[in-house]
Amino acid sequence: MKNLIVIFLFFLTLSIVQANEGSDYITVHLIPHAHCDVGWIKTPEEYYTSEISKILNNVVEELTANPDYRFIWVEVWFLQEWWQNSTELQRDQFVKLVHNGQLELVLGGIVMSDEALVTYWDDIDQLTEGHTWLKENIVPNNPELLPKYAWHIDPFGASSWTPTLFSDSCFDGYVTARINYLLLEMLKITQDLDFIWKGLKYDSGSGRTHVPWTLGHLLHGGYGSPPQCNWGEHKPEKNPPVTPENIDTLATDLVKYLELVNKEYQGNLVLQTFGHDRAFQNASIEFGNMTLLVNYINANQDKFNMKIKYSTLRETFDDLYSRNLDYPVSDENFDFFPYQNSKGNHFWTGFYVNQPKLKGMIRYSSSILRTVDFFWSLSGVKPTQDPTTWEMFENIMKLRREMSAAQHHDTITGTSPPPPLEECYNNLKKYVAACGRTLSWLMNQIQKTENVNYSWDLSTLENSLSINKQAYFVVMNNLGWERKEWITLDFEDSNTTFDLNNLAISHFDGTPIDQSNIAIIDKKLFLNLNIKPLGYETFLIKVLQTSGNNNQETDTMNNKAKELENQKEMGNQKESDLDLSAPLIIENQYYQISFDRTSGKLIEIDNIISEISVPLNQDFYYYLGEPGYTPWVMIVDPTVHQVCTKLESFRYKSSTGHMVQEVQQQFSSYLKQIYRLYDDNPFVEIEMVIGPLPVPYQLFSRYSTNWVNDKYFYSDAFGFQLFDKYQVEYPEIISSAYRPMTHTAAFRNSDETQQITIISDRAHGVGSYYDGGIEIMHIRADDYQNNGYYWDHDETITHQFNWLTFDTVENEEKNRQKNALLHNNQFNLMFSSNSIIDVLPVPSYSGLKHSLPDYLHFLTWKSISQMNNDYWIRLQNIITPETVNSNVKVPITITLSDYLLEENTIQSSTEKSLTGMYDLTSCTKKQWKWRDHPFPLQYNQNLEDGKLDSAIEVVPGEIRTFKVTI
Ligand SMILES: *[C@@H]1O[C@H](CO)[C@@H](O)[C@H](O)[C@H]1NC(C)=O
Ligand SMILES: *[C@@H]1O[C@H](CO)[C@@H](O)[C@H](O)[C@H]1NC(C)=O
Ligand SMILES: *[C@@H]1O[C@H](CO)[C@@H](O)[C@H](O)[C@H]1NC(C)=O
Ligand SMILES: *[C@@H]1O[C@H](CO)[C@@H](O)[C@H](O)[C@H]1NC(C)=O
Repeated sequence: MKNLIVIFLFFLTLSIVQANEGSDYITVHLIPHAHCDVGWIKTPEEYYTSEISKILNNVVEELTANPDYRFIWVEVWFLQEWWQNSTELQRDQFVKLVHNGQLELVLGGIVMSDEALVTYWDDIDQLTEGHTWLKENIVPNNPELLPKYAWHIDPFGASSWTPTLFSDSCFDGYVTARINYLLLEMLKITQDLDFIWKGLKYDSGSGRTHVPWTLGHLLHGGYGSPPQCNWGEHKPEKNPPVTPENIDTLATDLVKYLELVNKEYQGNLVLQTFGHDRAFQNASIEFGNMTLLVNYINANQDKFNMKIKYSTLRETFDDLYSRNLDYPVSDENFDFFPYQNSKGNHFWTGFYVNQPKLKGMIRYSSSILRTVDFFWSLSGVKPTQDPTTWEMFENIMKLRREMSAAQHHDTITGTSPPPPLEECYNNLKKYVAACGRTLSWLMNQIQKTENVNYSWDLSTLENSLSINKQAYFVVMNNLGWERKEWITLDFEDSNTTFDLNNLAISHFDGTPIDQSNIAIIDKKLFLNLNIKPLGYETFLIKVLQTSGNNNQETDTMNNKAKELENQKEMGNQKESDLDLSAPLIIENQYYQISFDRTSGKLIEIDNIISEISVPLNQDFYYYLGEPGYTPWVMIVDPTVHQVCTKLESFRYKSSTGHMVQEVQQQFSSYLKQIYRLYDDNPFVEIEMVIGPLPVPYQLFSRYSTNWVNDKYFYSDAFGFQLFDKYQVEYPEIISSAYRPMTHTAAFRNSDETQQITIISDRAHGVGSYYDGGIEIMHIRADDYQNNGYYWDHDETITHQFNWLTFDTVENEEKNRQKNALLHNNQFNLMFSSNSIIDVLPVPSYSGLKHSLPDYLHFLTWKSISQMNNDYWIRLQNIITPETVNSNVKVPITITLSDYLLEENTIQSSTEKSLTGMYDLTSCTKKQWKWRDHPFPLQYNQNLEDGKLDSAIEVVPGEIRTFKVTI
């Protein structure tokens, strides 16, 4: 536990309990609320129908009848549902309540997202969707009524990127509840439950300096009601209704409780939540009883010395702000992972890796959504009432909404039981398919053709392929950089009878793809293709009658005879030279990786360009799960079992010319792994095929070197900045050693000059409790047999793709974030069912005149609604602020309109806060006072309203958001 104490010291050293000043009575702000998970035990629809609709109906009615009542509303998902189901009168009442301040919109995302596993791009999207909807439907003319406070009272720990997210969204504060229980207790003692939470500073060195920070408010004990006040639970023995007989006792109890809470905060002011999960279904019961107590306490102020009222966050924090206190300041890059809710084993780290199949689907769907959003924008389809256009856009809106729902803190985390998760998975699949139809339609607009149908499904292509017939496929690049990348056509599961060697692949005009860009291994066809930024190219494929090329496979098994035979076949070594003690090596221009010829295991990696090497091992292990435990807590039997001291088999394969080389390792019936090197690619691809696991256990791989690094490692926060190096000192509890890995984990050598980085296609947990390595949790099948927490057996097979790089720290810092974007947004392929396309006016295309600068990411280009020509555009400098590489840590200046095609001329643009709520120039925030720290005077300075048709500067770590009319 030493590490926790060390990290927490920053608070303690700064804090001296101050006497509560100001008024001599305690002011209590009661915040009535209902916590409405967008899917947990039930699906979101089921919750809406059975419970949430009642809450909205009844709360609106009660608030309308009682001007003293207050309520806050968080999840836009349910509000959208209600909006369609409620009467005009109810909607009018709702809007009135927002305008008169009785009902406050807080957070305003489609959901309350998780903070450990979601990427910044998906979370910004779901907040933007929610905020846009609120702006259009609830407060079109009153931006000041949009959410000003982030309400994240249920996510399981909080991220170091969170202060940046909410600061840049123009919020005044952030309320949370789930942090390590020991830290919470300490902060109560020092009255530091309100604190300044700093994000990483953006500093251009040229005057554009921005320090993201927010006021963090920690709830003292979860988000429930005071223990006396749970009338909504209908347990009269525990919470008797308030009567004239018991009112004095109940009021005295409640006051005592609130007095204790008051001791934990500065300012003689208590923010007390009043509500629980899906509370206020019968709002009159909760308000009715509480109002009796509120009135009684206020009527007896002499006795109780307390003023209590229903309140919103705005009213509460306005009151707090007026008290002019100062607050302790956190370190930069500080977070609240891992979350431990009580003594012992209760570290919530299992959710980092639950349901890896769903986690992978979410990441994949995100990339598809990105593609269809960009191509919609590029195509210049304008708003119209035409039913086809409408339907095509609706498909996008459905995937946007489901992707938003997937970010919910019980969904991407896999903390829900299987049925709601399966529904989310199936919905994503359904809407990805629907977006495929939209993309096929868009492709016809851009290709200027008609009736060419494209589909995601490779079998479409197979079905149109036969001897001397041709088929078409389109390869799409959804990033703002031109790139050359290997794609894979995997015919493994198909019924094709043709020999892959007899396939001829060409550009649309018939120019063949050069042999050096083609490789075949087993039934996989690999193609190295170059696609322009935000562009596509159409390719032609046909089956030749006779063997058309010289591809040959070599196949080496870990059996001496076979090896000799193959080596002979390969002709690159004489029989007598073969030495089984020499390593098996595969290499490309960047890497040489070595495997032990007898065991088949990885032993070394060399970076050829940087001329560095390190012995590197990878082993798989598992922990047994303790039966009967919940899916969010990772409970492990501390005995580590090694699964695979020796491989069952391994094979080395390469295509002719070694364009693609593989080492296939079979560890056991449920675990296969392939190391792959591609010509031209500066990374090692590691494909894992895992499952179904035979028993409930947690499988992880351990990468180890001979580095001495005190067990330090790094992982990313929200898929962006690297969380500072992290070290766990001899954890008594293994699960405490894990941190979320949104897409990146890394570790370095002792003098921090070399780094190994793993980039993943879905979230994982990462930890280290031995020197010179990390372990990555790949799958958990915790107790699924007993509790049904896991999907059907067949569903547990996951393919996970990781990229491994090894380089100098300087180079790794340069490439890390870009690699993550490339890996998470690989080329999309669509296959045509048309076997002959006579005319295709635009077989290839780029939505940009040229590639964007290297580290400038075209983060967003989305049509805001079908009703107008407005788009969100975001540009991001992907060099993160913590980077020490001063060569790349520089501002990038760009005039976006220089890159856009003529048909996409920008008519006007306004710079906005991160989620589009406010004009940047009108985003004003509370300036909470910093204790013992100079106030960051540069804050928000120089953030002028940029224009995309003139030069703007994007500094490292910065995202600039624009609302654009095209
Ligand atoms: C509520 O609205 C949704 C969406 O329009 C609709 O599918 C559903 O049938 C409605 N439910 C009720 C109870 O009116
Ligand atoms: C709420 O509860 C009260 C008292 O039990 C009851 O009279 C009323 O019908 C309930 N209202 C709703 C909408 O369920
Ligand atoms: C208090 O709560 C009970 C349920 O425990 C309910 O029956 C009663 O009507 C409530 N009282 C008021 C004044 O609303
Ligand atoms: C292959 O053939 C089998 C049996 O005819 C069929 O069930 C399966 O769907 C086919 N697979 C593909 C990918 O076409």
